[in-house]
Amino acid sequence: MSIQKRVVGSYFVIILITVAILECMLIALVNFYYFHNVERILMNQAELSASFYHQYFADEDLEKQSERLLSGFSHNSAAQVQIISSTGQLLQDSTGLLTSENMLEYQDVQEACSGKAGTWRGNNSSTNEDILAVSYPLQAKDRTVGVVRFVTSLTETVKTVNQVSAIFIAVGLLVIFIVAIPGIFLSRTITSSITELELAAQKMAEGDFSIKANKRYRDELGALADTFNSMAARLRQNEQIKNDFISSVSHELRTPLTSIKGWVVTLHSSEGDDKAMLKDGLEIIDTETDRLTRMVDELLDFAKLDNGRIALSFAPVQIQELLGHIGKQLAPRAARQSISLDLDIDDTLPIIQGDENRLKQVLINLIDNSLKFTGPNGSIKMYAYSNQQQIIIAVEDTGSGIAEQDLANVFQKFYKGNIHGTGSGLGLSISEQIIKLHHGQLKITSKLGKGTRVEIYLPK
Ligand SMILES: Nc1ncnc2c1ncn2[C@@H]1O[C@H](COP(=O)(O)OP(=O)(O)OP(=O)(O)O)[C@@H](O)[C@H]1O
Ligand SMILES: [Mg+2]
Repeated sequence: MSIQKRVVGSYFVIILITVAILECMLIALVNFYYFHNVERILMNQAELSASFYHQYFADEDLEKQSERLLSGFSHNSAAQVQIISSTGQLLQDSTGLLTSENMLEYQDVQEACSGKAGTWRGNNSSTNEDILAVSYPLQAKDRTVGVVRFVTSLTETVKTVNQVSAIFIAVGLLVIFIVAIPGIFLSRTITSSITELELAAQKMAEGDFSIKANKRYRDELGALADTFNSMAARLRQNEQIKNDFISSVSHELRTPLTSIKGWVVTLHSSEGDDKAMLKDGLEIIDTETDRLTRMVDELLDFAKLDNGRIALSFAPVQIQELLGHIGKQLAPRAARQSISLDLDIDDTLPIIQGDENRLKQVLINLIDNSLKFTGPNGSIKMYAYSNQQQIIIAVEDTGSGIAEQDLANVFQKFYKGNIHGTGSGLGLSISEQIIKLHHGQLKITSKLGKGTRVEIYLPK
């Protein structure tokens, strides 16, 4: 069941019950008021007639005087007047029709005979009308000698009561209508916003992130629409990042593949006559394959680091030992390139908690960069020292340096500067991720033509 149906439905039921209770009460009151009024008028007349009889005719015989009495009683009344003897015999009737039936059959007459006023409401069998009868005892010397009875038709009263009730019911229906229309309208404003949001969500579930939910009002639903839209924007952005990433990865993979393919075709057509060319070609294919492998490895690494899917295994690390080890490992390459590689390490360095392999990966990345971008006779220095809160490891070279406008980009994935080196441009972004996972910071300063200094800040 929809929210609108539920809201409007319960609202309707409440209004209906309230109006129905009010209507019933009002109609009952009107009924009571009208019938009670008719009864009171008849009762007054009957009482007046009885006291008239008591004053002026008490000494005389009722049966003999009945005709005179009747004309006196009916003189001031529009009602039918009857005079009945104490035995129940109808003596006079203002309609002139005298029935032979015993009037004691009527409850009001019976009560009057026993000395009390009586009323009776019922159906007149001869005219088939609703009637009201009021009987009053006629007393002479404390003895009931007969009964005066006033009878009136209720047809008019019933008609009036019905008319008033009809008006009440009409007003009640109008009230329901007036109250229900804004209810339906209000619930529609709520549910239409929800329906729109639902539609937008459905489109998004189908993969369409370009949709925008309409914000109709500045209420909770409006806020929901806003949140929804920013969620969609976020997803669009992610989608864009993903697409960019895929296209740059494919582009990066294409370069070595093109070179390999080119050499394979060349070697194939030369049929291995030229030994020197064969050697060159195979060497290039070998390095390009290595480069591809390394790139794929780095990409996998990067994706894992980026998703936080790699949990570093923290253990105590001796920075001094680590740097010494790396220095030894890279010394032959530096010597080959005629670059001096020196270490300047503070021996009071504290032991830190870290992932030794990952830190080694970062340092090798940095020194690899320095070796790549430093010419012969250049120098590379590694520093390690500490201040109160941090341990600082720096790699400084006298290489090509980085132009100021490129400095901000070096941490981006696939950024390789102007030089088309052999790298994939992932080294620094992976290094930055790893240092971040150590709650540290990676900073780079450089002067074009002078050299570069990369600093790693690790918390103690
Ligand atoms: N020491 C440096 N001297 C000069 N330029 C540098 C230095 N370190 C980094 N750069 C610049 O920053 C770019 C990005 O470096 P990064 O290590 O991320 O990628 P890469 O070395 O090109 O590739 P990879 O490390 O994946 O093999 C480099 O291509 C280079 O232009
Ligand atoms: Mg690098």
